[in-house]
Amino acid sequence: VAHDVRIDPLDRSTTCAAGQSILESCLRNDIWLPHSCTQGTCGSCKVKVLSGEVDHRGSSEYTLTPEERSAGIALGCQATPRSGLVLEPVEKVDPDDGVPRHPLRDHTGTVVVLDDIARDVRRLVVELDEPMAFNPGQYAEITVPGTGVARQYSMANPPSETSRLEFHVRRTPGGIATDGWMFAGLSVGERVELAGPLGDFGMPLAQAEPAILIAGGTGLAPLKSIARHALAHDLVPELHLYHGGRSRQDLYDVELFEDLVRAHPNFRYRPCLCEEDWDGSTGLVTDVVLADFQSCRGLSAYLCGPPGMVEAGVKALKRRRMAPRKIHREEFLDAS
Ligand code: FAD
Ligand code: FES
Repeated sequence: VAHDVRIDPLDRSTTCAAGQSILESCLRNDIWLPHSCTQGTCGSCKVKVLSGEVDHRGSSEYTLTPEERSAGIALGCQATPRSGLVLEPVEKVDPDDGVPRHPLRDHTGTVVVLDDIARDVRRLVVELDEPMAFNPGQYAEITVPGTGVARQYSMANPPSETSRLEFHVRRTPGGIATDGWMFAGLSVGERVELAGPLGDFGMPLAQAEPAILIAGGTGLAPLKSIARHALAHDLVPELHLYHGGRSRQDLYDVELFEDLVRAHPNFRYRPCLCEEDWDGSTGLVTDVVLADFQSCRGLSAYLCGPPGMVEAGVKALKRRRMAPRKIHREEFLDAS
């Protein structure tokens, strides 16, 4: 059964279709709620239920504690209404913060590029039938045909390219979307379905301070989008991009970033390898950042990649006195 949901502080309402999460219904109806992973692991989509009843469905105790449940908190990306609801987001929403919000939509498109670009990494480019507006740093959910599952992949292209979405996909051994499809049966010319945009990782429009971008593996995807956008629009006085891998086989788009360095004197690109001696930076990407910056006061950072790397990066930046609110992160948590 469908139920009406009112977001109290925004004075906006939506109707949740049967089985539809509160977050999905809001985003599809152009009501922005804070969220990141949309799969019940990050906790950024918490809402307080002011009246009515929800079904918490897949919400785990790690993301939503029993105490929070009894206090009327729910995960917007998991919970569905059992009755009409009135709720408010736990994290405050400022509708006038100047960040453009794009409603979530279903899209179809054709695979036009599927290339091996690094060890266990493929570039997937999808030509959309209809353009999709998004902010640099956001992601799409790609449907894996015949499985009933969808997986998240960040756009690597800047938002000026609305019809041709570029993704960087790492193979997960035994993974349904990657090992079982994108690295197996999928080929150029095939039709794909996806939904987007999603997520609130990204650079504010009025960014002014120098920024450090730290990527691990395919965590480079959203940072490539952010870097290309920020440089094209002169958003930052300085931009430092770090890309961590084990050996040279893990690096990709090196030439593209070297070209950007030549075109933009305020852009620095540092690939870092932790298992190979070479003429570039050697060591864990976070250690290289620590060595390069004695103080990160007055800077901001954007980190993306495996959770362990992101965690280590955040710690390193705090040790160098970066203000916590200036540290933005996206973790590539899988659904397991
Ligand atoms: P899954 O099938 O989800 O498997 C994940 C793990 O679980 C594997 O180790 C698998 O062996 C194990 N597993 C699967 N089924 C079982 C089972 N039944 N029992 C035990 N173990 C099991 N990745 C990218 O490469 N690029 C991106 O740009 C990107 N962006 C992301 C953005 C966000 C916001 C998030 C949350 C994730 C992002 N990811 C990205 C990760 C991506 O969405 C997938 O999680 C990843 O590709 C793995 O998907 P999969 O279907 O291949 O693996
Ligand atoms: Fe809901 Fe991450 S837990 S968006």
